[in-house]
Amino acid sequence: MVNLSCKERGFKEIKYMIKCRSMENKEKIALTGDRPTGRLHLGHFVGSIQNRIKLQDEADQFFYMVADIQALTDNAERPEKIRNNVLEVVLDNLACGLDPKKTTMFIQSEVPEIAELTILFLNLVTLARLKRNPTVKDEMKQKGFEENVPAGFLIYPVSQAADILFCHSNIIPVGEDQKPMIEQTNEIVDDFNRIYGDTFSRVKHLVGDTPRLIGIDGNSKMGKSLNNAIYLSDSYEEISKKVMNMYTDPNHIHVEDPGKVEGNVVFAYLDIFDSNKKEISELKKQYEKGGLGDVVIKKRLIEVLEKLIKPIREKREELAQNPEAVMKILEAGTKHAREIAKKTMAEVRKVVKIDYF
Ligand code: TRP
Repeated sequence: MVNLSCKERGFKEIKYMIKCRSMENKEKIALTGDRPTGRLHLGHFVGSIQNRIKLQDEADQFFYMVADIQALTDNAERPEKIRNNVLEVVLDNLACGLDPKKTTMFIQSEVPEIAELTILFLNLVTLARLKRNPTVKDEMKQKGFEENVPAGFLIYPVSQAADILFCHSNIIPVGEDQKPMIEQTNEIVDDFNRIYGDTFSRVKHLVGDTPRLIGIDGNSKMGKSLNNAIYLSDSYEEISKKVMNMYTDPNHIHVEDPGKVEGNVVFAYLDIFDSNKKEISELKKQYEKGGLGDVVIKKRLIEVLEKLIKPIREKREELAQNPEAVMKILEAGTKHAREIAKKTMAEVRKVVKIDYF
C-alpha cells in the first residue's frame, strides 16, 4: 500500500468494502445430512440437530439430505439396512422439530446430478489427499479396511463436496468429525474456480455447543457402531439402564469415599444436559469430598435425560404411525432439490465445456 497515491488507496478501500458487504449479504444456504445406518442418538442431537432447528429459521434456505449413497459406500452388501433406516433418520429429525415447511428434505440417490458432479470433482483430488483425510483414516482403521477399502468409501468426502455444492450451500451444521470434509470441499471449490472460472463459493461448517459427546462407556465418541449410545427414541427403561451402567470413578466404592469428577461420564453429561449449573457445581464439590453416592447423581441424570427425550420419543411414535406421509415429504423435497441440481449441472457443464447439444 505504501506506494499507492491517496486516490488509488481510496479506490482499493472502496473495492474492499464492497467485497466485504457482498460477502455479508450473501444468501445463507445451509445443508446437512445423515447416513441412514441407524437411529440417531444424543451425540447427533447436541452436535448438529440443535443447530439444524435454529438454522431452518435463520438461513434463507435449508436442506436436509438422507445420505443413502454415502451409507452404501461401506454397506454395499446390506441394501435393506440402508433402505429401512431412511425412515428412521427422518423420523428422528422430524421428531426433534425439523419442519418440512421450512426445510427441503430429500434423498441423495434421487438426485443423480450429485453423482455427476462427484465424477467431475474427482479429477481435482489426488489419491494421496484422499488417504490423508483424518476422519476417513479413523473409520478405515475401525472397519479394518487397509488397502482393501472400497473405492467408493475412500472418495466419499468428494461426493460429500458435491452434496454441499449442488445447491450452492455455504453453511454446514455438522459434528466435529465432519470438519475434514468441509476442508476438502473448500479445496475443491478453489481448484474448480481456478480452472473453470468462479462457479462455487467457499463453505463454512457450524459445530454445535458440544461438538463431540463422549459415549456412556467413557469412550471419546458416542457412536452407533461403538454400542455406547443413548438414542433419541430410547424408552425410560432403556435410558435408566444405560445411565445406571455409566462409567463413573472405579475407586469410588463406598458413599463416603471421595470421588473423581474428571473423566466421570455422569458428571460430563450433567454438565451438558442439566441446566441448573449451580446445583451441579455443589454436587461436584460434595462428590469430591465424599458422601455422595453414584446412584444419587445417576438418578438425577435419568430424569434430566427423560425430560429431554420424552417429547421427542412421543412425537416420533406419532409420526411413525403414518410412514406414507413421511415418504410424501421426502418426495416433494426431492423434487425441489432435483430442480436446483439440474440448474447447477447446466452451469457446470457449460464451464467445463461439456455442453454439446
Ligand atoms: N458424512 C455425514 C455423516 O456421516 C453425512 C453427510 C453426507 C453430510 N453428506 C453430507 C453432512 C453433506 C453434511 C453435508 O454424518
